[in-house]
Amino acid sequence: MSYGEKCQLLVIGDSMVGKTSLLYRFTNGSFDAHYLATVGLDNFTKDEIINNKKVRIKIWDTAGQEKFQSLTKGFFRNAQGIMIVFDVSNIETYDNIKYWAQSIKTHMGSEIEKIPVIIIGNKMDLKERKINKNDAEAYCTELGYPYFETSAKTGENVDNTIKYLVVQVLKKNKKNKLKSSNNDTTTNNNFKIKKHTNEPNCPC
Ligand code: GTP
Ligand code: MG
Repeated sequence: MSYGEKCQLLVIGDSMVGKTSLLYRFTNGSFDAHYLATVGLDNFTKDEIINNKKVRIKIWDTAGQEKFQSLTKGFFRNAQGIMIVFDVSNIETYDNIKYWAQSIKTHMGSEIEKIPVIIIGNKMDLKERKINKNDAEAYCTELGYPYFETSAKTGENVDNTIKYLVVQVLKKNKKNKLKSSNNDTTTNNNFKIKKHTNEPNCPC
């Protein structure tokens, strides 16, 4: 087994949608119904074995209360994958997905191509759901991001969803590494060809 992969994720979305609860469920396997607003930035860490590799997953938790105005470039700087969370029982948090998605685009610019993003409809355990799953799926497809539903309360689909994002990040990292090593090879080949054709008595 190989070691040493790292993955830094960021979770954003309106206040009270369950961002902290999701991360708490993922890292501690439990749920606390008592609400305590996140202030500033917090982080959660968990080691997972993924594709036979030990991966250290660090997830930055943000304060929904600060909303859009506090989002700066620095906020997104080290994120390798992003989760946008809304509450399936709260239409306003669903409507705000587009603002969160837009703020990622604004601050990440062309880097966005390298960053996997997923959208999560949390609190799927609630009977008073207001957002239909099929509608949410169609809307997220339009935005270009995969859609998942979770319950931090029951734990349903939490691990699978976060691990899906981690796998996407690892895939992208591998692809980017390959791309940059291919670029190196191309440069070296060009250099060799140039050198070769400059030689006197070249047979070609
Ligand atoms: P901010 O830190 O203010 O941005 O909020 P947050 O998005 O981190 O929300 P938080 O995790 O603190 O959860 C808000 C409230 O929703 C808490 O009372 C949680 O117990 C509750 N909650 C979170 N996830 C779920 C869930 O899946 N189902 C249910 N029924 N309640 C949940
Ligand atoms: Mg929080």
